[in-house]
Amino acid sequence: MENRIRELKAQIESEAAKIASLDELKEVRFKYLSKNGAIPALMKQLGSLSKEERPAAGKVINEFKVWATELFDESEKDLASKALLKRYEDEAIDVTMPSKTRKAGHLHPVTLVRNELIDAFTGMGFTVFEGPEIDDDFHNFTALNVSADHPARDKQDTFYINDDLLLRTHTSTGQIRALETMEPPFKIISPGRVFRCDDDGTHAPMFHQMEGLVIDKNLSLCDLQGLLDTLAKTVFDKNTKTRFRPSFFPFTEPSVEVDVTCCECHGAGCNLCKGTGWIEILGGGVVNRKVIENCGLDADVYSGLAFGTGLDRIAMLKYGVNNIHLLYDGDVRISDQFRK
Ligand code: DAH
Repeated sequence: MENRIRELKAQIESEAAKIASLDELKEVRFKYLSKNGAIPALMKQLGSLSKEERPAAGKVINEFKVWATELFDESEKDLASKALLKRYEDEAIDVTMPSKTRKAGHLHPVTLVRNELIDAFTGMGFTVFEGPEIDDDFHNFTALNVSADHPARDKQDTFYINDDLLLRTHTSTGQIRALETMEPPFKIISPGRVFRCDDDGTHAPMFHQMEGLVIDKNLSLCDLQGLLDTLAKTVFDKNTKTRFRPSFFPFTEPSVEVDVTCCECHGAGCNLCKGTGWIEILGGGVVNRKVIENCGLDADVYSGLAFGTGLDRIAMLKYGVNNIHLLYDGDVRISDQFRK
């Protein structure tokens, strides 16, 4: 019996030394201590001993059992703490690693300009009037006093859908649609996409404009000057000055082109303004009485002021973008720079 115990003890010690996991320990413990394991088997052999030998042998087996149980318990504690340590190591987070950020969306520069203008003009009592992008010859040209032989009607500039329908070439169509549907006096701005068959560094086939129209009695060019001064100061800065230059548009008479002091050099002269200190940002004027008449209103009673500006152009000037295509290529390295 003693030999057998010594043998088993050596066996357990050598096996215990090799145990590498809690699962392995469970197997070894089962092998020696379970009901049919090697140690209970020793107990069963007690029956073959004489009555006198039995108590001492039972005691030795019991001590052996306690020893083995403690050994396994000890080993279990050890393995469990090692497993926990390993888990900590495996799950360790390197707080110095760059994080996987999910970028929030933000507004396109043209939308930023559009929103600023809408804000400023609605503050002056204007409402936003949106016209259709597909319109007809009458609203895009005829009603706006663009004669049948005007070069702007040339197929090179206009995307025609059929003989009558086209993609609007300017938001001035909003003037006609508003005059047809709204009761004067009114003040509207009409921002939106416009389309022209044109494509180079400063022109894209699709771009954005915002039209303004005021219809009331006794309006003059002076009223327009105040409005456009506000527009310039809103999109650029409050020290921006405006100046009117005489110009020609079929839908306004008199017509003006409006310059603002250069947003880069503030009037001193630089590359952006080609040394003049001024940059043209919009066209406008007193609405031609023919336009008012074309929409069925009495031009002796009502007068109007109109202006139209390019939102992309303003965004490019304001944010220093030198190619209009950069606004539409969808390169996040560009658009990210407009995060506000
Ligand atoms: N429609 C013109 C353009 O696309 C801009 C414009 C000029 C609009 C004068 C107006 C205006 O309302 O009075 O170039």
